[in-house]
Amino acid sequence: MVRCSVYSFAVFCFASAMSAYADGQSAFTSESRWNVEVSKHWDVLGPFPIQAREQHFISPSFPLNLSEPIDLDKTWPSSYANGGRVTWSFAILEDNGELEISFPDIRWESLRATEGWAALQHHAVLRSTLTVHPPLNPSKSTPVPRLLVQLIQGSYFTILPKSGRREPRWYSGNIYAMERALPQEVPLPTTPSNDSATQYDIFLSGDYEIRLFGDPHSQGRKIPVQSISISVKFDDALASVVRESTQDVVCNFVDSFAFGDAIGIGLRSVHGWWTVTNVSTDPSSGLFLTLVRPTRIVEGQTRIVPVRITQTRPFSQASIDLKLTLTSGASEIVTIESLPVDQLSGWTESVYSPIKGTYFYARSMPTVFTALPPRYSGPPKPPILALHGAGVDIVEQPFWADALPRNSYSWFVIPTGRTSWGLDWHGPSTKDAWASLYALATILAANRAWLPWKLDQNIPVIVLGHSNGGQGAWYVASRYPDRVLGIIPAAAYIKSQSYVPLTLSRSARFIDPILLSILETSLTPDNNDLFLTNLVDTPVLAVHGGNDDNVPVWHSRESAGILENWNPAANVAYREDAGQGHWYSTVFNNTQVTAFIDDLIASYPAAIISSSKFMLTVSIPAESGSLHGWRIVALTIPGRLGRLRVERASDLAVRVYTSNLQRFSVDTTIYNTSNVYIDNSKVYIDKDKAGIIHFEAVEPKVWKTSTQSGTQLSGRMQTVLSSNGPLVLVIPDDTDTYRQEFSVAQRIAHDLGLYHRLDTEIIRSSEASDAEFLSQGNIVAIGNEASASFVVNEKIPFEAKTSQHLISYEPQQPLDGPEIGLLFLHSHPLKVDGNMVMMQSTDAAGLERVARLFPIRTGILVPDWLIVGPLADSQGAGGVISAGLWGSDWSWNDPMSWTS
Ligand SMILES: *[C@@H]1O[C@H](CO)[C@@H](O)[C@H](O)[C@H]1NC(C)=O
Ligand SMILES: *[C@@H]1O[C@H](CO)[C@@H](O)[C@H](O)[C@H]1NC(C)=O
Ligand SMILES: *[C@@H]1O[C@H](CO)[C@@H](O)[C@H](O)[C@H]1NC(C)=O
Ligand SMILES: *[C@@H]1O[C@H](CO)[C@@H](O)[C@H](O)[C@H]1NC(C)=O
Ligand SMILES: *[C@@H]1O[C@H](CO)[C@@H](O)[C@H](O)[C@H]1NC(C)=O
Repeated sequence: MVRCSVYSFAVFCFASAMSAYADGQSAFTSESRWNVEVSKHWDVLGPFPIQAREQHFISPSFPLNLSEPIDLDKTWPSSYANGGRVTWSFAILEDNGELEISFPDIRWESLRATEGWAALQHHAVLRSTLTVHPPLNPSKSTPVPRLLVQLIQGSYFTILPKSGRREPRWYSGNIYAMERALPQEVPLPTTPSNDSATQYDIFLSGDYEIRLFGDPHSQGRKIPVQSISISVKFDDALASVVRESTQDVVCNFVDSFAFGDAIGIGLRSVHGWWTVTNVSTDPSSGLFLTLVRPTRIVEGQTRIVPVRITQTRPFSQASIDLKLTLTSGASEIVTIESLPVDQLSGWTESVYSPIKGTYFYARSMPTVFTALPPRYSGPPKPPILALHGAGVDIVEQPFWADALPRNSYSWFVIPTGRTSWGLDWHGPSTKDAWASLYALATILAANRAWLPWKLDQNIPVIVLGHSNGGQGAWYVASRYPDRVLGIIPAAAYIKSQSYVPLTLSRSARFIDPILLSILETSLTPDNNDLFLTNLVDTPVLAVHGGNDDNVPVWHSRESAGILENWNPAANVAYREDAGQGHWYSTVFNNTQVTAFIDDLIASYPAAIISSSKFMLTVSIPAESGSLHGWRIVALTIPGRLGRLRVERASDLAVRVYTSNLQRFSVDTTIYNTSNVYIDNSKVYIDKDKAGIIHFEAVEPKVWKTSTQSGTQLSGRMQTVLSSNGPLVLVIPDDTDTYRQEFSVAQRIAHDLGLYHRLDTEIIRSSEASDAEFLSQGNIVAIGNEASASFVVNEKIPFEAKTSQHLISYEPQQPLDGPEIGLLFLHSHPLKVDGNMVMMQSTDAAGLERVARLFPIRTGILVPDWLIVGPLADSQGAGGVISAGLWGSDWSWNDPMSWTS
């Protein structure tokens, strides 16, 4: 299907979007089309021990140096192998595009007997050949299209010419096998011949992770098997811009009214930089559409165009027709796109179905959530936030919504957490959970028919979750204790390092343990055990199947035990369902869980109690809320935990003891006090001032009240993902398709879209002076030229220069050498609630190195700043040259910095 458009300056047509990459290899032999073939034969080298997410530091081609010729007879050391060395083997690509990689000669049972799951994690490098055939009748006007590469359950791939040295550009695979994934768009590294076949090497990194692929025993196997799927084809889209309808976002209509105000249209630019400038629909439909903001889609990028929907009367059609206008220079495209909608009828006491609502995450990203209505209307009750497990797609799979027992008085709110994996319910996933709740409250308040069912968005919530979502329930509750009334974490793991230990880390064989501990501070914010002090007054019912082969049952027992250690009288119950596995239909649908929920609802607000003594623990202030009104907003030494111990001495006197705190606050409407002793000195506060009072340390442990309320916006590189708008990726002005910085931006944009449904706007450095562009969200400046368009804070020991050396701290001298990359977090030039990342390097290889460290997944050890060199290829984080965290307010933080 080709859609032709009204146009003013040029003729463009929209090819049907969906056909662009149907599954399987395309075998067309069109006269005018380029064709690509993947060899069936794959050379395989492995296995090598690796810890989870280490492949972001180690070369994906480890142990190979791709600048050198490959010797298929060479052997390599590996502690997994009999005799201590591995040789090349091979695998055959099946017709369905699947590769099964396993190493049956390894005595896995013996390794796991002592090392457990850690010993099953392994890395392998795979190599094969791509053959590119020119069209039978080449015409000068058809340039070679980009390849569309879909790699599933592999971590990285690169395509290189057979001969001649080329810096590998690593593209990430869809290692989680995430839903609705678009392929990577890859330009060939060299122009292929137009009259004969040209061969290229394709390299792939295969990394077995227990969390992703499971224990082989639970699949009836003794050995771990990687099932990698790869498909490569040329982009045969004919139009400049194509619809990617898998990326569309639309809400349900309930009794002919939209359950939300957001819709989104997935569009991909095949050629050129386009800006969506207008959207409309036939006003007689009763719908009124507005573009949330002009949306620029650069070549090779897909964006979900944000459209706000308002309604003046019922709309009962099966689809919405939108007229979109796109411009690029003097060219214009006008196209009509049809967006199918599901019409539901209203819920009743006995009949309901899960409802898909939508809202704009971070002001402009159309986002779905699901809601289950209560049986009865009435005054607002605490809603129940239900966090799904890893890999569970709540948009198209009914499983999770169907597993939840409908409540009589409370809404269930089921957020996506951005995607089925998201960021393990941290960062943007947590923000999405809260925002979905507010969105439901807004939707119900906006329609008179739904008012009797309305929500109060200030009421604390009940949080439940399963597996990764159970972990998320612990996480959300212990970071935002005042917003949570009680939790039911089921089959929850404590933290990733306890789930699969890091004992077989390669980096740890080479690195100074003090440097390693600084890098590992970027895991601290996710370590749920360390934050259980914050839950001593929160009712908890932990649930676990006694025979869980996915998340071991000891995790829930341990969490409950830690809580009891902090408060022997804690309201923590633990239910172990003997003999049950990871999931069973009565995880939540049992009388104990429903009674726990109903009691919390019935006794609200009386259910909230406060111990006379408690302690608040915080790692990243910007991602932490208050406990009984007390909130930590800045640490003295970020990277270490901050703690605030509060003891009620008498009715109105309170003693507070701090550890590693720079600023904190108390809300006296929640915690009533006027007589405060902090670290044994009385601090005078204005008795007439009810509300939030801020305290600041003028010297270590010497406190005064303050008007300074700014929250620390650093703590680890990953905080950049918690952007309040599209991430702005800044690249040099020269946007040649092959330019490395542009390629890095396209790859980051793709990965943010795939892993987190986070939107990006790519701009040129000359546009960086434009506040309209820069103030949209957090910023990532890619490369020396883009970084140099920003003025670097003078407290920071790095200077952004377009030259090929990096200025490093103490003594302030240029850091030079091959393949060195630097990335650091920095304050946002315009927004007080934002931050930015700068990436610099001494050469192209150095930029690739830091681009791979952009923390797209959890568990990547990147604190606030880091310099890394070529040793990382074989030694992982052992190749880090310097790293650290900023002090309070972006200052140098000596105890948390390491320089070689
Ligand atoms: C094929 O390649 C040759 C050499 O690069 C070039 O001179 C010629 O114009 C090309 N032909 C077509 C049809 O593109
Ligand atoms: C957008 O399109 C509608 C319908 O064609 C038109 O009425 C409106 O003026 C356009 N808005 C802009 C800003 O061009
Ligand atoms: C919960 O269990 C009851 C039977 O005890 C069953 O009737 C009901 O359908 C179940 N609900 C869900 C959501 O599975
Ligand atoms: C705080 O406590 C004092 C003394 O008990 C009382 O007079 C005042 O009303 C309380 N304030 C709040 C906000 O509860
Ligand atoms: C890879 O090999 C090239 C060519 O021999 C060499 O210059 C380079 O230093 C090697 N890289 C590493 C990280 O060893």
